[in-house]
Amino acid sequence: MEATHDVLVVGAGCAGMRAAIEAHDAGADVGVISKLHPTRSHSGAAEGGINAALGNAAEDSPEIHAFDTVKGSDYLGDQDAIEIFTREAPGDIYQLEHWGAFFSRREDGKLAQRPFGAAGSPRTVFAADITGHVLIQVLYEQLVKRDITVYEEYFAWKLVENDGRCQGVICWDLLNGGLKTVGGKTVVLATGGQGRIYRTTTNAYACTGDGAAMALRLGLPLKDMEFMQFHPTTLYPTGILLTEGCRGEGAYLINSEGERFMKRYAPNAMELASRDVVSRSEQTEIDAGRGINGSVMLDMRHLGAERIIERLPGSRELSMTFAGVDPIYDPVPVRPGAHYHMGGVETGNDGETELTGLYAAGEVACVSVHGANRLGGNSLMETITFGRRAGRAAAEWALSNTTVDVPRSAEADAERELKALLDVSSGERAWQIRNDLGTSMLENFGVFRRDEQMTTQVEIIAGLRERYKRGVVVEDKGEVFNSDLTQAIELGNMLDLAACMLQAGVARKESRGAHARPYDYPDRDDENFMKHSISRWVDGGPELSWKDVRYTKYDPMERKY
Ligand code: FUM
Repeated sequence: MEATHDVLVVGAGCAGMRAAIEAHDAGADVGVISKLHPTRSHSGAAEGGINAALGNAAEDSPEIHAFDTVKGSDYLGDQDAIEIFTREAPGDIYQLEHWGAFFSRREDGKLAQRPFGAAGSPRTVFAADITGHVLIQVLYEQLVKRDITVYEEYFAWKLVENDGRCQGVICWDLLNGGLKTVGGKTVVLATGGQGRIYRTTTNAYACTGDGAAMALRLGLPLKDMEFMQFHPTTLYPTGILLTEGCRGEGAYLINSEGERFMKRYAPNAMELASRDVVSRSEQTEIDAGRGINGSVMLDMRHLGAERIIERLPGSRELSMTFAGVDPIYDPVPVRPGAHYHMGGVETGNDGETELTGLYAAGEVACVSVHGANRLGGNSLMETITFGRRAGRAAAEWALSNTTVDVPRSAEADAERELKALLDVSSGERAWQIRNDLGTSMLENFGVFRRDEQMTTQVEIIAGLRERYKRGVVVEDKGEVFNSDLTQAIELGNMLDLAACMLQAGVARKESRGAHARPYDYPDRDDENFMKHSISRWVDGGPELSWKDVRYTKYDPMERKY
């Protein structure tokens, strides 16, 4: 074994780093594994902000924030988790600020807060439109200050279960090659999302669902896998995110006729309706022939150069670089793109999973705060609040237990599997299957879902998994930065997760949040589907069951909140 730690965190984005800091401060010896250098983690791509009820711009409270989140989730969020989240968020923001996060400010010196979609109050704290980038730098400084060991460019491949608990991770060392095992009395998964299952996505190439797939293969439950959020403003043609902050600052959405079409879909909230509503409205306009090159236009011209340069400098730069358009002078082409996966490894409110010693936080986890539809700005906050809680719980458990034991047989199995992967000499390249997966998921399991398309997609995924099993050729047999090898492993992860997503999607016969079936089940069906889907891997395939949503006081029937 390479090393052992009290707490081993897998992933070094906002959730992973926040968990590591908290575990260290609770007295644990902490190690962090990451397939990227921490400041290159996908959390750095978060732009528009982070939600906490500070009440600096208008009246607000954790209770109003909780109600907005429950309603935004289409009543699928677990309400006890949501109440913890909104109550603890303000303290977490001040903690980040005290660590040096330079959030944008108001004239009176308080932290500025901008409106985001479906929020009852301007609640989104921000650092211009590079909020994730700022948080990543601040958290990394705190990691370095504490001298926490980071295993950079270690690709986590297998969780080690021994004696009924998780005791470590088997990794591929990207820089030097070779399998390396790192032990942990507890392990915190913080590996982010899986947007790369789709061809058009805001997600980085690293977002391939590695943590969720590792947990799934250990037999752990994944929750609400059918819910993939499509962000309404991703740049045409690349899919790069243009923040909701643009609309928060007042940008309009217009169709090919120059019409501000949201007035027909959400006359009150307009462009700041929840993301599922805005994405569906855009797609309806595009499908009705009122788009331009499969896009609608985001118009910021009326905001003026000064505001765009002060509040949205990153969005302007992205528009100029990747779409050749300066938003000060021209509208920018945007369309819905896969952005955030609401589902993930089922956890309790301290990140604990079904397997003793294994915790999860951030996008890989499903607590569930977001239910069927996440509010913009709630995910950065979730990484911090639940990263902290998972780090604390993992440390407390580790400090009261002493041994780490990774059986040699686990490493030997991994070595055999690796050799088999590298020995394949004829067959397809991983990118061929990955392209087919991404294109077909976008076509058949996107903003709108039709029964026949989902059924087709189930068959397509079965076929892709068969092609994968027949053999993917890893042409690079080398040790150093063998991305050919890691892409083959990542593809296997994405294929298994996609199978879970489709099975749950077909079975959810209603429309709720990001799961829209306007052609056969256009309405929300609280009587039959006010429940979480649970996916497990049994005998080489996904197996579905259901679980109750946890309520406190927000009653979807009475709608009294
Ligand atoms: O639009 C955005 O800035 C994205 C924020 C989020 O997904 O929370």
